[in-house]
Amino acid sequence: MTQAYDFDAPIERRGTRSIKWSLDEKTGVWHDPPAPLGQAPHEAELLPMWLADMDLAAAPPILEALRNRIDHGVFGYTGLDDEFYDSINDWAQRRHGWSIDHDWVTTNTGVMPAINLLIQTFTESDDGVLVQSPVFHPISQAIEYNGRTLLDNALVYDGTRYNMDLDDLATKASLASTKMMVLCSPHNPVGRVWQPQELRAVADICAANDILLISDEIHGDLTYAWSNFVSIGSLIEHHDRLVVCTSPSKAFNLPGLKLSLTIIPDARIRDAYLLTLRNQNEIFGANLLGTTALTAAYQHGEPWLEALIDHLAGNVKYVHEFLVSRLPHLRLVRPDALYLLWIDCRGLKKSDAELDAQLRKAGVWLERGSTYGAAGEGFLRMTVATPRKMVEVAMERMARGLAT
Ligand SMILES: Cc1ncc(COP(=O)(O)O)c(C=O)c1O
Repeated sequence: MTQAYDFDAPIERRGTRSIKWSLDEKTGVWHDPPAPLGQAPHEAELLPMWLADMDLAAAPPILEALRNRIDHGVFGYTGLDDEFYDSINDWAQRRHGWSIDHDWVTTNTGVMPAINLLIQTFTESDDGVLVQSPVFHPISQAIEYNGRTLLDNALVYDGTRYNMDLDDLATKASLASTKMMVLCSPHNPVGRVWQPQELRAVADICAANDILLISDEIHGDLTYAWSNFVSIGSLIEHHDRLVVCTSPSKAFNLPGLKLSLTIIPDARIRDAYLLTLRNQNEIFGANLLGTTALTAAYQHGEPWLEALIDHLAGNVKYVHEFLVSRLPHLRLVRPDALYLLWIDCRGLKKSDAELDAQLRKAGVWLERGSTYGAAGEGFLRMTVATPRKMVEVAMERMARGLAT
């Protein structure tokens, strides 16, 4: 238990339409009749540690705000007011040193829907869009499913840490067909928080080549004490080519409330995006409960978030120490941010399919590294936004599954 918040309380999620707990991605089958009475979640037959959401309740001020809003009883079309915009600006200024004008902010149902609309609005068929693999796969899919060309500025792994290859970025950015870059900052799945000089270099390359830079900062608030996240918006002058996509949904565990922010400082870019959003997609108003939760999170959620990050840091330490003592062929890539751990399993010399099969047989489900691109082969991604006990059980099962 950390301070006033109990992040170790087991919460039953089976039977709550949780995708992480109930949907088998491979078969597409929902597999959870309500848990047998007395069976704790961490005793589940297959422990799901794959999807990026937390097995933890939201912060008390968020729950209170949602309860009050529900008690009102009327759930009509919802607009945005000064309190909403101010909560975003105050949070961004206090935590990330960035002042965000009310005008710059639009909402969407998620960061991925926004990235899809941005791709559709600002690029054409076959245009090149840059990413840095291994990367959160819906970003690569959004590029390919929209008929654009995926340009991979692959990250370089030195056995401990991932870095950008800026020379390769400059080369690919200079192609006439390259129109956009989607930067993952902090980076999912490798856990890097980019340093100001790295962000400036990326922004300079994009500006020099007239490339629209989309910075996906959804994990920015989940940065550990040993690192320091900086929003690219606070650093650069090229606001005419920048869109920042973010949401409190990761840090405050609200992804089911379907609300994200698309921050577009440049009026021309913003108008073009809004045309797609409103005129083509008929999006009218914002998600009522999502906006309620966002305001409560940004106004009153900070102490909870600080305590959560301490809890997550404890889970990271536990996994690191477990690997060193019990699974020495595996190596945790030390995260600067994210509750998603990126584990180098190449020392086992097994394919991702073999790793996955062995782990599932032992009762634990992690995400295969190759999901994030070929460079992820031999890695696993593990969610540790859970009570400690669940991490302990998962690690024991992992040790059992990978013993042979
Ligand atoms: C980097 C990144 N971007 C976007 C998303 C998805 O965001 P949303 O659910 O708001 O579409 C995730 C979810 O894990 C993510 O890790």
